[in-house]
Amino acid sequence: MKLNEALFPKLRLRRLRRTPALRRMVRETTLSVEDFIYPLFVAPGHGLRSEIGSMPGCYHFSPDTLPDEVEEISGLGIPAVILFGLPETKDEAGSEAYHPRGIVQEAIRAIKGAVPELLVITDVCLCEYTSHGHCGVVVDREVDNDQTLELLARTALSHAEAGADMVAPSDMMDGRVAAIRARLDESGFSHLPIMAYAAKYASAFYGPFREAAESAPQFGDRRGYQMDPPNVREALREVEQDILEGADIVMVKPALAYLDVIARVRQDFHHPVAAYNVSGEYAMLKAAARNGWLDGQQAALEVLTAIKRAGADLILTYHAKEAARWLKS
Ligand code: PBG
Repeated sequence: MKLNEALFPKLRLRRLRRTPALRRMVRETTLSVEDFIYPLFVAPGHGLRSEIGSMPGCYHFSPDTLPDEVEEISGLGIPAVILFGLPETKDEAGSEAYHPRGIVQEAIRAIKGAVPELLVITDVCLCEYTSHGHCGVVVDREVDNDQTLELLARTALSHAEAGADMVAPSDMMDGRVAAIRARLDESGFSHLPIMAYAAKYASAFYGPFREAAESAPQFGDRRGYQMDPPNVREALREVEQDILEGADIVMVKPALAYLDVIARVRQDFHHPVAAYNVSGEYAMLKAAARNGWLDGQQAALEVLTAIKRAGADLILTYHAKEAARWLKS
């Protein structure tokens, strides 16, 4: 790095911080509503719009209440949503995940009927649909990688057939991106992009989501397939692997405790990078703000800006709607 030519008192870095206009002029990172992807939880039923206890401001929707919600989302300028489904029934093989009239498939149709231009991304995973809550087929109390691939490919295809604009596998099986790419390509969906949850860690910060999506594993944990938090070189191998298999966008998840991983992925690859500002990150900020322990708006914008500064092009966040409003005002 080049040394500063001037030293104090000639050099005064505070000069460019004095007024809002000066600060705006030299700002290096700008958060924009275009960066946001808003997660939605969809469940069967009618007239459902019930708040999720651990995630204030986030709701479960039934397909019939989605049109109003997505009109609001789209009206705020948010370009995309990502869907998570709570099925009517669960079984060993997660068969509601790839049922043509499953909850996510119905939700896609409801959204596309109301706001066709809103991008609909679907989370492709089995954990919300399996009776045991694991992200794949369980054989002898372990998730069988290769048997799971077929079900993931089937799920992705059923989302595509229902009208999804992009699929996002979040299961962390080896080879899932290739399996999904092949199935989409042979079925007339070669134009459909894949956003891979490439570096997804076995994190405590998914707690509120698992309650919201009723997807907590009924035995054991996800450490046998999701990544070990201390590792960063392994994350780069995961990202490389997903890219070689055909991922169009790569994701790091969670975001806040993994900013270094986001930065490394940004540095080492040229693909668009997404970061998932997960449920636990949202919940802890909301809880602190509700107690008056910090300014919720300022803290959320600071966190989102940090994720962008680390190198994320896209941010999946439960703050999307409120942040869109804050950025406008
Ligand atoms: C499904 C999935 C999870 C999340 C996104 N997709 C939960 C998990 O892996 O247990 C977490 C999202 C969040 O916490 O906001 N596999």
